[in-house]
Amino acid sequence: MTTLSHLECSMCAKRHEAGLAHNLCECGGPLLVRYDLEKARQNWSREWLMRAPSTMWRYAPVLPVAKPENIITLGEGFTPLVRAKRLGDRLGAKNLWVKDEGINPTGSFKARGLSCAVSMCAELGVKKIAIPSAGNAASASAAYAAAAGIECHIFMPQDVPQSNFIECKSFGAHVTLVDGLISDCGRIVGERKAAEGWFEVSTLKEPYRIEGKKTMGYEVAEQFQWNLPDVIFYPTGGGVGMIGMWKAFAEMETLGWIGPKRPKMIAVQVEGCQPVVRAFEKGEKRSEFFQNAHTVAAGLRVPKPLGDFLVLNAVRESGGTAIAVSDEEMMDAGVQLASDEGMFAAPEGAACVAALQKLLANGFLKADERMVIYNTGAGLKYLEAYATKFPRGGAGEGDKLGGLITPR
Ligand SMILES: Cc1ncc(COP(=O)(O)O)c(C=O)c1O
Ligand SMILES: [Zn+2]
Repeated sequence: MTTLSHLECSMCAKRHEAGLAHNLCECGGPLLVRYDLEKARQNWSREWLMRAPSTMWRYAPVLPVAKPENIITLGEGFTPLVRAKRLGDRLGAKNLWVKDEGINPTGSFKARGLSCAVSMCAELGVKKIAIPSAGNAASASAAYAAAAGIECHIFMPQDVPQSNFIECKSFGAHVTLVDGLISDCGRIVGERKAAEGWFEVSTLKEPYRIEGKKTMGYEVAEQFQWNLPDVIFYPTGGGVGMIGMWKAFAEMETLGWIGPKRPKMIAVQVEGCQPVVRAFEKGEKRSEFFQNAHTVAAGLRVPKPLGDFLVLNAVRESGGTAIAVSDEEMMDAGVQLASDEGMFAAPEGAACVAALQKLLANGFLKADERMVIYNTGAGLKYLEAYATKFPRGGAGEGDKLGGLITPR
């Protein structure tokens, strides 16, 4: 089981004890979970994984839960890594892969983070959680809270995809829709949590969601026989997946499972909300609040990520880059991916396909590099966004797209 040792502040390096429910450090820094990797190295091996469950809990020694009975699992993780040959040939990428996170419970990679965070809530005796969310994290929290028998309070923008709202209600969560952005939702949770007795599981304000998401990094290494790809595309909202994978690579190197080589980490954002891209281009360590954020990729509408400095650090250290695409390029790329590969991606995942096209065109990437796109969610969760591409009706148009005929 876990080799959890303690928690460490990502800003001031202060040590915090394990076994307590933590939010941020007193200095405002997000906490990172540290393990006794020397012990893990002695008692655990890559071969052990042959007998491990085919979920993200196969990496239990580097996940924080102490007692197996506290794990709240719905089968998250160990998602397929699919070769995208037809799309790759079309775009000029000879070695292109898609890690399909859309098949996770509740249809997105948020299941990983919330499985881990809610399991820790169960272990630490937390009875009520609250979360501000762009949508998919809300669905995942509501599902895992339901499975754990924990009360769940959700605050999300009023225009979240319908799927998220209906899932949360079905899972029995308390849902408040906010006429604003995720940053407004976060402020409301912060103001009310003490009086309500809620434990806040906001992105990075709680240390265990990163741990769940880092398993995307362990998996890509395992699925490529412990040779990391050359390039990773990650649709970056809060950036937790990127931070988590970067942490996973460091842990795996300490475990002796991989060498020092790292993929170029590409943070993909949208033109309507690109705080990380702006900061990257200006050479800044932190991002600035992005005014009037707007995009149909709900998960990328994060105007000021709390962990921006960690994302920027990973992108720079890896020799990667940060790039924004338009909503139109993103939705077109989603349809291209679907029709070439049979994979119906969330707009966030599709944004990576559009970014790939740009980075091949400007020469930043070369055709023969091994590239992995993280499709972080299922297209089925975004029917409103895709519906704009495929209007229905058009009586008499027969088999034309969306055409309607009346049988005699
Ligand atoms: C489908 C999808 N992709 C990407 C993201 C961004 O995730 P992260 O916070 O790890 O950057 C989100 C966040 O809501 C999401 O729902
Ligand atoms: Zn600190």
